[in-house]
Amino acid sequence: MKNTLQIKNILRQQPIHSEITISGWLKSKRDSKKLSFLDVSDGSSLSGLQVIAENTLANYNNQITKLTTGCSLTVRGTLLPSPAKGQEVELHAADIQVHGWADPEEYPLQKKRHSFEFLRSIAHLRGRTNSLGAVARIRSRLSYAVHHFFQERGFFQIHTPIITTSDCEGAGDMFTVTALDLDQLCTNGTVDFSKDFFGSPARLTVSGQLEAEAYALALGNVYTFGPTFRAENSHTSRHLAEFWMVEPEMAFCDLQGDMDLAEEMLKFLINDCLENCAEDIALFAQFIDKKLMDKLDNVLQHDFARISYTEAVLELEKSAKHFDFPVKWGIDLQSEHERFLAENLMQRPVIVTDYPKSIKPVYMRLNDDEKTVAAMDILFPGIGEIIGGSQREERFDQLESAMTDADVAAGDYQWYLDLRRYGTVPHAGFGLGFERIIQFITGMGNIRDVIAFPRTPGSA
Ligand code: 4AD
Ligand code: MG
Repeated sequence: MKNTLQIKNILRQQPIHSEITISGWLKSKRDSKKLSFLDVSDGSSLSGLQVIAENTLANYNNQITKLTTGCSLTVRGTLLPSPAKGQEVELHAADIQVHGWADPEEYPLQKKRHSFEFLRSIAHLRGRTNSLGAVARIRSRLSYAVHHFFQERGFFQIHTPIITTSDCEGAGDMFTVTALDLDQLCTNGTVDFSKDFFGSPARLTVSGQLEAEAYALALGNVYTFGPTFRAENSHTSRHLAEFWMVEPEMAFCDLQGDMDLAEEMLKFLINDCLENCAEDIALFAQFIDKKLMDKLDNVLQHDFARISYTEAVLELEKSAKHFDFPVKWGIDLQSEHERFLAENLMQRPVIVTDYPKSIKPVYMRLNDDEKTVAAMDILFPGIGEIIGGSQREERFDQLESAMTDADVAAGDYQWYLDLRRYGTVPHAGFGLGFERIIQFITGMGNIRDVIAFPRTPGSA
């Protein structure tokens, strides 16, 4: 058996009168007197191909008439213009081979709309539905576009480690990686990590940033794009325990340059998707979010608003809106505040800069006011925070004292301090939550539905 033509390409190229072979799964079937219409999809595009199966086929009576949704087939035949509405071409079958049956009494994906909650319970099958299939294609395209964007601009991809001994964000929400026998973990109430695989506590990374910084200070502009892990107990529609992050890091760059790159990248990704996933995006605009096209357009057409945290807090205090979390200078902005800024106040993406140092990690560069740091968060309407980034503290003394103030064990971070000891440079970077941009582009409400196999508290 050789890999056959993708339906996507057949629909695009329409090789009329050619003999072609396709393989895929039956979406639906309609029988008439002398023939059956099969709607076959191979996952390469939202649209399937209509197959005409006449009752002269050898296996018509004992197989074709018994086909149901989900059965898998290979069809050889001739592509002809379709006389009926609904499709331009159809495949007239000369031969149909059935690979696998899908008992309609048991197969959970019948031709009707299923709730996303239900589909989550059959994550291994849900990629065959229109919406989850479209998400998967968009996700793949976006991943490609991320590499395209950075490679075209001379950035080098760095594969940063997944197992790490440093806590980049200092938020203490990491998963431990151990080869110790869990039944005999504690001796005298403490765990002896010197006996563990790495000889010290190891965790799943929350961010590739620190290692990316090391290579930015070697190669100039770099990026890392990989899975990251957070053991925070967040049951929201925006949090996963395992998610993917895009993290560029640029040497000889300040916060302005960082924000400019982030805005350019987000617009590039949306444009690329509109150009290359038009059919899939149209599905979301029709069934998931009627205002989707306007929302995407709104991001593309406007410069992002840029305001400081201090200004943002003033605006929030001025607003008549009631917030569950009261606003005052020094608080970490909650999702309700972020969404107010982007949706009501600015009605477009907002970049909030210069947050209080007390609510941000130690690696962010201290501003001259000594109260705020050169941080930036990008807030999107409907999503809230989509990007978090900063200019990094490149001055040895400032970094060391920030670490002391935050009780970070400097011993573990000598290598990170070395980057400031030897040939330090101003540098900056950010992290894009990959699932959050997919949520924005598809309009999907729940982050669990934009990753194939979501990991969340209580569910792996
Ligand atoms: O703001 P965060 O925590 O920033 C960092 O990790 C930096 N080290 C990035 C950098 O400067 N290189 O996370 C970055 C982004 C957030 O803006 C959000 O979009 C996403 O990652 N994110 C999550 N996405 C899904 N589930 C979670 N639990 C997430 N936590 C953060
Ligand atoms: Mg953040």
